[in-house]
Amino acid sequence: MFFKQLRATIRQAKKNDPSAPTKITIFFTYPGIHALMWYRVAHFFYRIKLTFIARIISNLGRFFTNVDIHPGAKIGEGLFIDHGAGVVIGQTAVIGKNVVLFHGVTLGSSSVQSQGKRHPTLEDNVVVYANSTIIGNITIGKNSVVGASSVVKQDIGPNSVVVGNPIRLISVDGKRVYDAKTECEALKDELTTLRVKIQELEERLSK
Ligand SMILES: CC(C)(COP(=O)(O)OP(=O)(O)OC[C@H]1O[C@@H](n2cnc3c(N)ncnc32)[C@H](O)[C@@H]1OP(=O)(O)O)[C@@H](O)C(=O)NCCC(=O)NCCS
Repeated sequence: MFFKQLRATIRQAKKNDPSAPTKITIFFTYPGIHALMWYRVAHFFYRIKLTFIARIISNLGRFFTNVDIHPGAKIGEGLFIDHGAGVVIGQTAVIGKNVVLFHGVTLGSSSVQSQGKRHPTLEDNVVVYANSTIIGNITIGKNSVVGASSVVKQDIGPNSVVVGNPIRLISVDGKRVYDAKTECEALKDELTTLRVKIQELEERLSK
């Protein structure tokens, strides 16, 4: 089981990192791979309710890799954490299969309550780019992409690309749904309507 998951993660690294070296080099040098190995062991102890040991192992993993994965998080096969640095995965986060996270990604909680699910769910094949923060008990649908430095606080459907803070939906099922030009033109129309209305009001007042 452990080795099957390790192989899946290395496969994902090879597939997603254009500069990926050989599998053996990936195994020895990628902090994202090491972080997951520490996590798998910590999660085992967490599941058998030896939470103190789980926490110690998790902390050692964090010390060596700079990736902070709570031992209670549920992580599917093939997660690839590229670069590793600064990734945080909270206690009730759920991650599907073949997900990719870049450096600085936070799967965080929106509340200080310790009960219930308060971290995000990432479905299969989701990609979250560098320094993005996903907050609360929300779901990012399968195959979706979160652009760099985005802040996501609401559910995102499957096959979507979202960017920014507040987020903008850029495309769904590969089709562009956001067009800055169209939005600007709509704003221009609204301003023109407002200007006409103000003129009418001024004329009425001056009579
Ligand atoms: C999400 C992403 C994949 C989208 O790429 P794309 O589909 O090719 O989108 P485009 O570049 O055509 O951009 C579409 C619009 O979204 C905007 N946009 C794209 N990425 C954005 C981001 N991260 N934050 C804010 N706006 C963004 C663009 O400015 C453009 O807006 P406009 O139409 O108003 O000009 C890409 O922009 C991204 O964030 N890549 C992350 C790269 C990264 O983290 N690499 C780490 C390597 S170590």
